[in-house]
Amino acid sequence: MSLSKKIKDIKCKFDIDFDLLKSKKSTTLNLKNKYLGRKGLINSLYLSFNKLPKNDKPKFGLDINKLKENISLKLADDSNDNIINDNSNLDLTLPGKYYDAGSIHPITLIIDEIKSIFQRIGFSSIYGPEVDTDYYNFEALNIPTHHPARDMQDTFYIDKDILLRTHTSGSQIHYMKKNKPPIKILSPGRVYRNEDISVRSYCLFHQIEGLYVDEKVSFSDLKGTLEYFAKEFFGNKVKTRFRPSYFPFTEPSAEMDVYWGLNSESDYRITKGTGWLEILGCGMVDPEVFKAVSYDLNKVSGFAFGLGIERIAMLKYGIDDIRLLYEGDIRFLSQFKK
Ligand code: DAH
Repeated sequence: MSLSKKIKDIKCKFDIDFDLLKSKKSTTLNLKNKYLGRKGLINSLYLSFNKLPKNDKPKFGLDINKLKENISLKLADDSNDNIINDNSNLDLTLPGKYYDAGSIHPITLIIDEIKSIFQRIGFSSIYGPEVDTDYYNFEALNIPTHHPARDMQDTFYIDKDILLRTHTSGSQIHYMKKNKPPIKILSPGRVYRNEDISVRSYCLFHQIEGLYVDEKVSFSDLKGTLEYFAKEFFGNKVKTRFRPSYFPFTEPSAEMDVYWGLNSESDYRITKGTGWLEILGCGMVDPEVFKAVSYDLNKVSGFAFGLGIERIAMLKYGIDDIRLLYEGDIRFLSQFKK
């Protein structure tokens, strides 16, 4: 058979074989082997080609290369090979596949709710860094190196001056250094402490920081704002009380309790027998803090507060082990809002 006839012959064979692909009687892999493989039909053409007189070689070389290119191109897409087209066993009465939707984490639910309560009275949310410097986390908040308040807030150090923040209060400093009063912000986020891990404490948890700075902000503004929050969050009938306290970055300082009641044994345990539950620390921004951010002490005053999220989430949802909040167990998480 002449070489030109052989080329035509292979062309025809390939067209027939290629049609078999559509009816799944062959696969691209089979055809690749048959035509393009080392012992395939295209290579067999080169045997005859080598024996041609020199003058005929350019024309036939071109023809063979074209054919090879054409076949390679058609066999390049093998994506249909694995699709099963045989519908005879299809059972249309079977239920569809069910993909479980995720749910919102209880910590996020609480943060979102608190954010929206404060948003209604003009607080916007900002975020501070979780890896921060000693200066922002302690020093600028009036907690110098040898202050005893550092004892309660031992943390994880990246090096001598860089640490995982122990509270969200540092974001007050970050924000005030970059902005001028009036300021009305919330700053939610993760904080870290070197704590023994137990049902009640973990090495990370969440807080929401609040800060309001303007002219003539008073302690009664602070009380009014936090009482509004407690009513919105716990319901209109909630009872609150303020107790004097101490924080280096506020003066005077207080803690707010809500009345939880003493109806069950666990209420006694949670409230240590008093019925009252501490939910936040607060106070008037200390002049030392304003000095650190170069605000004019004679012009501005402000209040700040810090709320622990885990305790509120545990109370609201009846969660009795804090570790459940961090384990990512679907059986636990799927009980919350979709
Ligand atoms: N940073 C405090 C803590 O982690 C909580 C706190 C108390 C924040 C009083 C405040 C505040 O802004 O005014 O224990």
